[in-house]
Amino acid sequence: MRFNRRILTIALACAPLGALLPASAWAQKPLVMGFSQVGAESEWRTANTESIKSAAKEAGIELKFSDAQQKQENQIKAIRSFIAQKVDVIAFSPVVESGWEPVLREAKAAKIPVILTDRAVNVKDTSLYVTFIGSDFVEEGRKAGRWLVEKMKNEKGAVNIVELQGTVGSAPAIDRKKGFEEIIKADPKFKIIRSQTGDFTRAKGKEVMEAFLKAEGKKINVLYAHNDDMAIGAIQAIEEAGLKPAKDIIIISIDAVKGAFEAMIAGKLNVSVECSPLLGPQLMAAAKDIKAGKPVQKRIVTEEGIFPMEIAAREFPKRKY
Ligand code: AHR
Repeated sequence: MRFNRRILTIALACAPLGALLPASAWAQKPLVMGFSQVGAESEWRTANTESIKSAAKEAGIELKFSDAQQKQENQIKAIRSFIAQKVDVIAFSPVVESGWEPVLREAKAAKIPVILTDRAVNVKDTSLYVTFIGSDFVEEGRKAGRWLVEKMKNEKGAVNIVELQGTVGSAPAIDRKKGFEEIIKADPKFKIIRSQTGDFTRAKGKEVMEAFLKAEGKKINVLYAHNDDMAIGAIQAIEEAGLKPAKDIIIISIDAVKGAFEAMIAGKLNVSVECSPLLGPQLMAAAKDIKAGKPVQKRIVTEEGIFPMEIAAREFPKRKY
């Protein structure tokens, strides 16, 4: 009896798995996700793409990745192609907020669940997506505003602000403006004297800051940039104009990417509000839960901090992006 059991154990250990598992287990294919990314416009976006790709690999999810090069029409094409390929889940970070209803209705008709990551859409029918995972951009704008109010609390005269907005019509550009204005409007000394888009890129940030400097020169006290890349581009413009960034012009930006920490350590950027791009693991977990029929929260908010230049050197080694 004892001998037989041993033989059986050895036989089981050596048998090919296929012979032991029921056919249904082998029929389970990996979950397929179609992901439409905004583009590669910033250091933040590069880190976000990396997080999504590595989390998919880690979770055993087959990822069909498409880069929209900051164009909504490319995202719509990609989503239609994911529908045609009958993927299990569609996820995307919408470049702008509006204009998504028709394609999201097509996904719903095809019974493919949609997950929004990073940026929101403006749709009346919220059943067109299952969940939205990402930052609270209004709160990021408020954090930037509160930091400025505190920094300038002893300033009696006018505080002239120039603003570099993100991509026109995008959720972070709309919300970061809104949150910042909500805070500074409490004190009339704060005035936004110029506000223009820099499209979230370094090149555009530099170009627009050059124009601001040409028009307003030394009147500018503060630069509020909706992301670090634009602030870094603007720092170059400020230096080329013979001014000292973070001293002659206070600079506030958003993201807290490594490039911003380097600028803060070099004394050229005053503060960066954190916006985490590391959304991959939460996205993959949500996709698996949806597929398994488990309930998923409609809104999953990322937790974030704020990093002034005084603590940048200490925090830098801990940064993951
Ligand atoms: O949607 C998040 C924003 O998009 C980041 O702040 C910006 O850097 C990126 O391009």
